[in-house]
Amino acid sequence: MGLPFTHLTSTKQLSRSDTDAIVGVAQDMEGILKKGGCDLLRGKILGSLFYEPSTRTRLSFESAMQRLGGDIVTADGIQFSSLYKGESIEDTIVVASQYCDIIAMRHPEVGSADRAAAVSLVPFINAGDGPGQHPTQALLDLFTIQKECGKIDGLKVAMVGDLRFGRTVHSLSFLLGLYDKITLVFVSPKELTMPEKVITFCKEKGIAFSEERALDAALTADVLYMTRIQEERFTDHSEYERLKSVYTLKAAHLKGKRTVIMHPLPRVTEIATDVDALPNAAYFRQVRNGVPVRMALLAMLLGKL
Ligand code: NCD
Repeated sequence: MGLPFTHLTSTKQLSRSDTDAIVGVAQDMEGILKKGGCDLLRGKILGSLFYEPSTRTRLSFESAMQRLGGDIVTADGIQFSSLYKGESIEDTIVVASQYCDIIAMRHPEVGSADRAAAVSLVPFINAGDGPGQHPTQALLDLFTIQKECGKIDGLKVAMVGDLRFGRTVHSLSFLLGLYDKITLVFVSPKELTMPEKVITFCKEKGIAFSEERALDAALTADVLYMTRIQEERFTDHSEYERLKSVYTLKAAHLKGKRTVIMHPLPRVTEIATDVDALPNAAYFRQVRNGVPVRMALLAMLLGKL
């Protein structure tokens, strides 16, 4: 099956046949998980390099590798690594390539993933480059939408919150653009609107979209994707303080609605905990989907499927 590329840094490099293949393999991986894993990647090592905070992405990459019988070596926190001593991203990646068969890296700079992929001697996966992209999150989001809604074509998907700095919504918009008759609703304060690169993409692709300010605009969607205001990206902390509670989705907003509620997590205050008990609150199921999707990617990029 394979994938027509060695490294995954952006969802813009994916075609519909790639996403169909990844979703298909992820479904098979769910079956393998039910049986407790397998030995497909025995003898292979994942280099897990996380130079920015992460819980889900890192744990699910490492869990995915181990469920496939592989091993991991890890580095975390710039302050504990040679990057802190002044080593370039390029040198760090060439060095890491000597120790492992595939690398997943998260780094605070936009473009760090492309720089890493340009020199990596082994398959490289972007696990988040600052406010740039987070392609594996978008793939697990897509897998979640497919599972929750039974389809992707024809859906109306609303994205709410920090669309400027939130990398997950950038990556997800490019992926949804591969599907037919998608409608996107971008809800954010005016300071945190979707970047031009996504707006231009929607216009070029002829995707129906609108930019809105009020949460209400998102409540008629099939999927409502909430995001956190990205505190760490603000240069002016008072602006963060002003915007941090701009949207809070509550159970009362969702009375009688079947809208699927998603969130890449971590959540701060943007989804009240009274939403958690609703059957359409999908965010904890979404987290779980990270493992089979990352298993699929690891196996495919290592040429095992
Ligand atoms: C997201 C991220 O790191 O971009 N988290 C994740 O990977 N699940 C979202 C966020 O941090 O708000």
